[in-house]
Amino acid sequence: MALLIYQLICTAAAFQPPPSYSRLSGLRMSSQRADAVAEANTDRRSLVKGIAAAGVGLGLVGGKRVIDGPVYSNVVDLSGENIVITGGNTGLGKAAAVRLAALGAAVTIACRSPSKAEAAVKDIQQASGSSAVDAVPLDLTDSSSIASCARELSGRLGKIDVLMNNAGVMAIPNRETTADGYEKQMGINHLGHFRLTSLVLPLLAAASTPRVVNVSSKAHTLAKLDFSDFFLTKDYDPWVAYGNKGSLGNAAGNLRQLTAVSCHPGLVRTELGRYFFNTDNIPLFPFGWLLTPLLIPGIYASRSPERGAQTQIYCAAEPTLQGTAGGEYFEDCHISTPSKDARDRQMAARLWEVSEKLTGASWNA
Ligand SMILES: NC(=O)c1ccc[n+]([C@@H]2O[C@H](COP(=O)([O-])OP(=O)(O)OC[C@H]3O[C@@H](n4cnc5c(N)ncnc54)[C@H](OP(=O)(O)O)[C@@H]3O)[C@@H](O)[C@H]2O)c1
Repeated sequence: MALLIYQLICTAAAFQPPPSYSRLSGLRMSSQRADAVAEANTDRRSLVKGIAAAGVGLGLVGGKRVIDGPVYSNVVDLSGENIVITGGNTGLGKAAAVRLAALGAAVTIACRSPSKAEAAVKDIQQASGSSAVDAVPLDLTDSSSIASCARELSGRLGKIDVLMNNAGVMAIPNRETTADGYEKQMGINHLGHFRLTSLVLPLLAAASTPRVVNVSSKAHTLAKLDFSDFFLTKDYDPWVAYGNKGSLGNAAGNLRQLTAVSCHPGLVRTELGRYFFNTDNIPLFPFGWLLTPLLIPGIYASRSPERGAQTQIYCAAEPTLQGTAGGEYFEDCHISTPSKDARDRQMAARLWEVSEKLTGASWNA
């Protein structure tokens, strides 16, 4: 981008004004006049091209600012707050952990891989300048791991001010199941977090202004919740299964003094595509390199993890959110309207009921 702007400035700077007609009238040779007119026309064309290129450049820069979304720059003092982030070892969770730790919160990331967690804790401490960063083991595919994570959190923390349900998987090409027999995306993205949230409810209740931030997705618009085939045994579609994740957001609603919200981070360059875009799933592979030219527009059209994490950071830190009713859906650091299905109270109640039945979750703090 910087190179493009530099080139545009160079083009504009290279423009020379045409010689004036009064100067031309002083010339005797008609061929010289013709040359001068041609030269003036060329210069005019260069000017128009320069202006058009500058316009495109400015448009691209402006477009990128819109694509990247707002930055939540409020410096809130989060000292004394405990924030737990699932899947905080990479991507959006890690970026959020850095910022929230820098704002003073004690951050615990809940991760399935001990080695990734250990490396991430070091990175987050270094990037945030805070030593109050820790990790607990959590595998959302396994109810016993979720239960031991909740126990570990109870042993370590007296309260949880913010639980950020961030971990997720997207568009697993073929239907897979969790240790508990759930379809994997529903199991990790929704039921695993549903169970975890219910188990740490006493810790949330111990905080003065507790929040649950569910990192959802715009892809919730693809959801087709079918309660007669909840785990998509008959007709598995990886994107419908991912879209169903978004249903979690608003079902969480408001539990007593707890504020629960959901958010969409935008299109972000993280490892989320690892299931869908692995070499076995791209039909073009081994000609995958043909897709390389798409990298630049792809980078242009997406956000960095740091920019993508702004809305979940906002949802975790912004003091004015405490006054909201809960159940809101946020995009670009403001309340947005989710799909019609996501606003369907009856469907939300049914999902809640089914989720309670499947996980055995109890919501008594
Ligand atoms: N990136 C986007 O454009 C985008 C758009 C909309 C919504 N989102 C949502 O944003 C959230 C964060 O995604 P991301 O983009 O940061 O993706 P990511 O880079 O793939 O990070 C996902 C995180 O979830 C963890 N995770 C996956 N399965 C898990 C399991 N069974 N138990 C515990 N943790 C597990 C991963 O751990 P490992 O590293 O060990 O696998 C990783 O830490 C997701 O919920 C995603 O749906 C992302």
